[in-house]
Amino acid sequence: MEKKYISSQEWKKRLRQEKPISKKEAGGSFFVHESSIVDDNVHIGSGTKIWHFSHILSGSTIGQNCSFGQNCVVGSNVKIGSGVKVQNNVSIYEGIEIEDDVFVGPSAVFTNVVNPRAFILRKSEFKKTLLKYGCSIGANATVVCGVTIGEYALIGSGAVVSKDVKPYALMAGVPARQIGWVSRAGNRLEFDTDGFAVDAYDGSRYKLEDENIVFLE
Ligand SMILES: CC(C)(COP(=O)(O)OP(=O)(O)OC[C@H]1O[C@@H](n2cnc3c(N)ncnc32)[C@H](O)[C@@H]1OP(=O)(O)O)[C@@H](O)C(=O)NCCC(=O)NCCS
Repeated sequence: MEKKYISSQEWKKRLRQEKPISKKEAGGSFFVHESSIVDDNVHIGSGTKIWHFSHILSGSTIGQNCSFGQNCVVGSNVKIGSGVKVQNNVSIYEGIEIEDDVFVGPSAVFTNVVNPRAFILRKSEFKKTLLKYGCSIGANATVVCGVTIGEYALIGSGAVVSKDVKPYALMAGVPARQIGWVSRAGNRLEFDTDGFAVDAYDGSRYKLEDENIVFLE
């Protein structure tokens, strides 16, 4: 993981000077738009781009070749892998972990406290939410904290996920229910009578075994 970063003081100083920060100044490895703030003690991998009006909080780690759209927040101590795409208006709070190659659609919502109260501090009760490799979260979906979303699962737009999601599961609705299975490329899988499916996109093959997907090749 790259460990090049610019302190928030430095960003603010440059903002006041209204001078855009070039890739070279940013260590030549990642890009942060001048309207965004990156706190101290943040690790951002090379090739990552952080666009307008975003805030990356202290202690967070972001891998390589990620992109964050407009108005995104990465909370304290959040760990995000490489190749992650986060669309506009997404806040990733402390307690959420995102593995490599995850897609988070616009205005998706995460949570980290089950029973919030304005007058009770529940920082020590943050529940962990894990988005596993290659999964996708649709636009405006809500992920209630404490769940794990399996590898390559696909969450439909507007769904409310309140339970663990199996790898390759296609989920939709409120609360989210499984409406099918998807391939690694995100296409619906149609199984033959023996429980085999092929994705025409890349010829990848899958088997349905005991209500779980086994990736064959
Ligand atoms: C869930 C999803 C993958 C299903 O796509 P699909 O396999 O092509 O499904 P279809 O459009 O054939 O719809 C199948 C059924 O599911 C329903 N459905 C589709 N998407 C739904 C959703 N997000 N929530 C609830 N129901 C949904 C359809 O109304 C249809 O219902 P019916 O059988 O009663 O008529 C897709 O609709 C979706 O939400 N994709 C995410 C898009 C997104 O957020 N992109 C972000 C980047 S822009």
